[in-house]
Amino acid sequence: MIRYLQLALIPCFLAVHVVGDSNEVTVPAVRVVRLQVDYRNASVSDLQKIHKWNAIMRNSVLASLKFINKHWLICGGSPSDTPTSSNADCGKAQVTGEIVGDRHYRINVTLIAERDPVKNAKVGATSTVYAVAHIGLKGGIFQYTNALKTLGKPEPKLAFDEAFFCYRGATLVDTDKCRKERRLRDSPLLDAVDTPIPIANLLAL
Ligand SMILES: *[C@@H]1O[C@H](CO)[C@@H](O)[C@H](O)[C@H]1NC(C)=O
Ligand SMILES: *[C@@H]1O[C@H](CO)[C@@H](O)[C@H](O)[C@H]1NC(C)=O
Repeated sequence: MIRYLQLALIPCFLAVHVVGDSNEVTVPAVRVVRLQVDYRNASVSDLQKIHKWNAIMRNSVLASLKFINKHWLICGGSPSDTPTSSNADCGKAQVTGEIVGDRHYRINVTLIAERDPVKNAKVGATSTVYAVAHIGLKGGIFQYTNALKTLGKPEPKLAFDEAFFCYRGATLVDTDKCRKERRLRDSPLLDAVDTPIPIANLLAL
């Protein structure tokens, strides 16, 4: 039964993704976004006294991202991820914090995000990852939780950037697509999406 289904599915896959020349296959690239929140009145010296500060800060930011994702579907994933698993880690979010200066602390968040326009989870509305993160910031999600109180009030504006990446074996083309050039009969196409590059490697590129 399963084998039958696979055979039935493969032609659909080909039909969707093969463009132009029959040896050329393109798929959408993975969108990675980075959000940066600055706190310029942080009690930096108190942070060092907080046991497991990094873990607390990461969990708090991850909770904020998941909160946004309940309303706006921002957390992306690999094509094989279920919606539940992409929400669990919000697009494999990486959260780092650094002391920049005397009272200045900065949080960087990097995650695999859905393409804009992102969809509202309940109503038929769309927005962008930047806009909904910004609304969250204004609403206090990076500030009012007990864990982040020590950082004080964040700057009212987020820094934001994005980049597109391909899975191993594919090349980025047209800014945000990945092209895999191979003879179709030599290799099963589906392995194009089987082995995602770990996010840490993605970010090092
Ligand atoms: C900076 O933080 C201190 C407490 O650490 C607070 O009393 C003060 O009002 C804050 N200043 C601003 C401009 O937010
Ligand atoms: C945060 O991002 C900035 C670039 O915007 C980078 O220079 C800095 O090293 C990053 N910090 C951490 C801790 O990842």
